[in-house]
Amino acid sequence: TATPILTKLQKDCATPLPLLRHVADAMASDMRAGLSADGGSDLKMILSYVDSLPSGNEKGLFYALDLGGTNFRVLRVQLGGKEERVIATEFEQVSIPQDFMFGTSEKLFDFIASGLAKFAQNEGGKFHLPSGRIREIGFTFSFPVKQTSIDSGILIKWTKGFAVSGTAGRDVVACLNEAMERQGLDMRVSALVNDSVGTLAGARYWDDDVMVAVILGTGTNACYVERLAAIPKLQGQMSSTGETIINTEWGAFSNGLPLTVYDREMDNASINPGEQIFEKTISGMYLGEIVRRVLLKMAEDSDLFGASVPAKLAAPHVLRTPDICAMQQDNSDDLQAVGSILYNVAGVESNLRARSIVVEVCDTIVQRGGRLAGAGIVGILQKMEEDSKGLIFGKRTVVAMDGGLYENYPQYREYLQGAVTDLLGTDISNNVIIEHSKDGSGIGAALLAASNSKYEHDY
Ligand code: BG6
Ligand code: GLC
Repeated sequence: TATPILTKLQKDCATPLPLLRHVADAMASDMRAGLSADGGSDLKMILSYVDSLPSGNEKGLFYALDLGGTNFRVLRVQLGGKEERVIATEFEQVSIPQDFMFGTSEKLFDFIASGLAKFAQNEGGKFHLPSGRIREIGFTFSFPVKQTSIDSGILIKWTKGFAVSGTAGRDVVACLNEAMERQGLDMRVSALVNDSVGTLAGARYWDDDVMVAVILGTGTNACYVERLAAIPKLQGQMSSTGETIINTEWGAFSNGLPLTVYDREMDNASINPGEQIFEKTISGMYLGEIVRRVLLKMAEDSDLFGASVPAKLAAPHVLRTPDICAMQQDNSDDLQAVGSILYNVAGVESNLRARSIVVEVCDTIVQRGGRLAGAGIVGILQKMEEDSKGLIFGKRTVVAMDGGLYENYPQYREYLQGAVTDLLGTDISNNVIIEHSKDGSGIGAALLAASNSKYEHDY
């Protein structure tokens, strides 16, 4: 069911192999530029100050806080070392009310600290802290932070629709500490980590071959294990032997992407125009919105849904990525589920022809997103491979994935894997295992709190 608008969209969103290669190469060279100097590239290539990856020996009770996805999570874990590993774990999650995303810094951090306080009150008998100690926290904060040490860092800017006043430029650990003090809560942040870094640490705990972690959720990001000697901007500030994790903040990547008029208009209307262009092309906060913009144009210019344009369809973000995902799972002949989602979310009455065009639009946007994400991953692996002269592609290498988009969208996952296989060829891509990381970044953050504990290690 071709229409001129659909045909043009498919052409503008096409991701043939040469384009993907160009994106992967550009990702690798932007990474190098970002490692050479601060401000040297779209990619910030942030030092995580994580200098030892989880070994499995970690022991004790640790908490984790996770802010920055759709939900705010709190977690505790009792670690038992090599033999027992995770003895017990409990978590809670709450969705973040919209007004906290647009309020003041104090209000947001008070919300977090009070959630943590309530959770900490119900610590059961399975968890044990040696007497005289303060509970330690791994704080996953999923925004660009200039780390100043493993347990401090300054918020560079908000992303993903957060617009909280008074936090940018401040140490987010200090913000949390102040809020905990207001709550009368005596806990201490031992590690501040990005969600991608937490995911890498969590996955590495189970598997030594994990070298990269990628978040595909509301936003997107990737981090990887880098040699200190390959980070020129360190200029000898740290010993140059050993490894660390680099948080690429690849959401800000923008080189060579196949963008459309819908992307540009969405960007202009966003609260951070000109920023996070890769994120706006491939991540969960935006895919549904791009589709909505295309459908609105089709309704206006080619009567997709009849003579009148459904008013609800004009509202930004009414169509969410979970909606387009649900529509793509409809295998029925009359696309019944597509029809009811269109009706329920956008007040749209549709015939079969319109429904199948809608599914094609979803598929076009999701295919572009998934394939570009795959090219980004190949870019990172390529950079690591070139630097290590064969240590990546010649052996099993694991890329740990997390985030709601990756977890819940089968077509997106297939497009991503397809692009990786196309780019690397089957021989190499057989060695590259892209897999969902089961524990998320929560346990990872707790593990990093353990390895950076202020107390003598129990092991
Ligand atoms: C979770 C991780 O699974 O995915 C979080 O534990 C991360 O740290 C999140 O922020 C991102 O997903 P979403 O879909 O909630 O943005
Ligand atoms: C945004 C944030 C980044 C985070 C990612 C995934 O891109 O800037 O820090 O890792 O979303 O949650």
